[in-house]
Amino acid sequence: LNLTLLGPPEAGKGTQAAILREQFDVVYLATGDMLRRHRGRGTDLGLAASKPMHAGRLVPDDLVIAMVTDALPDDSGSGLLLDGFPRTVAQAEALDDLLRARDRCLTAAILVDVADDVVIDRISGRRVCPSGHVFHVRYNRPARESVCDEDGAPLVRRDDDHPEAVRRRLAAYHDATEPLIARYARLGQLLRVNGAPSADAVFSQIRQGLSAMA
Ligand code: AP5
Ligand code: ZN
Repeated sequence: LNLTLLGPPEAGKGTQAAILREQFDVVYLATGDMLRRHRGRGTDLGLAASKPMHAGRLVPDDLVIAMVTDALPDDSGSGLLLDGFPRTVAQAEALDDLLRARDRCLTAAILVDVADDVVIDRISGRRVCPSGHVFHVRYNRPARESVCDEDGAPLVRRDDDHPEAVRRRLAAYHDATEPLIARYARLGQLLRVNGAPSADAVFSQIRQGLSAMA
């Protein structure tokens, strides 16, 4: 099973990834989380990514493609779950080459689809921990306020969850990433789900869609 999660900011890609990882044996690569770890460690890549991420712009393709190339397992043994990659046509072409070189092919590009007003409604309430666990003050409350249920770490707002950055992240999605929808539809790999209902209801659409594609 080789999957990628597509969708606008705040669509719930990370939330669905957490559920998928409980159900399937997959190597999980989330480019946003990987880039945030580089920023935290202050690597060259982290320094290069810091400005565009804070502003809500995409990190340049060559940097992201090199990062994914390094992290992708060499063999096709276990499944793969990509979250937030590819985001541009150049990244999608690079991914095709990377998978082909490993005798893999994409099972499905899962589009978690939500309208812009849902995105705007979700941003102010998202809280995250340093390890990437995701909560929401209204829709997915932690047991204790501002404490991660999984590891007890403090929950904070992401530095790109401010209105100006979210507007740019939405624009980047519409301009650069949306063209991938037609591409994956043409290849018969697109699985579109409605991301607006509860996280469990979104996941059951994914489960049904995957079994229909298998
Ligand atoms: P990234 O971290 O990938 O951010 P994003 O795509 O903007 O996605 P988000 O993490 O904001 O949202 P999500 O869809 O995962 O939603 P979540 O599950 O958290 O990327 C950040 C930045 O890194 C980019 O802007 C770019 O600069 C850079 N970058 C990353 N990848 C790149 C690439 N490939 N190329 C270039 N640059 C790249 O859910 C959101 C909130 O809603 C949470 O609070 C959650 O609890 C809640 N929620 C989730 N599902 C539901 C539901 N069904 N109902 C109600 N609430 C829900
Ligand atoms: Zn945590």
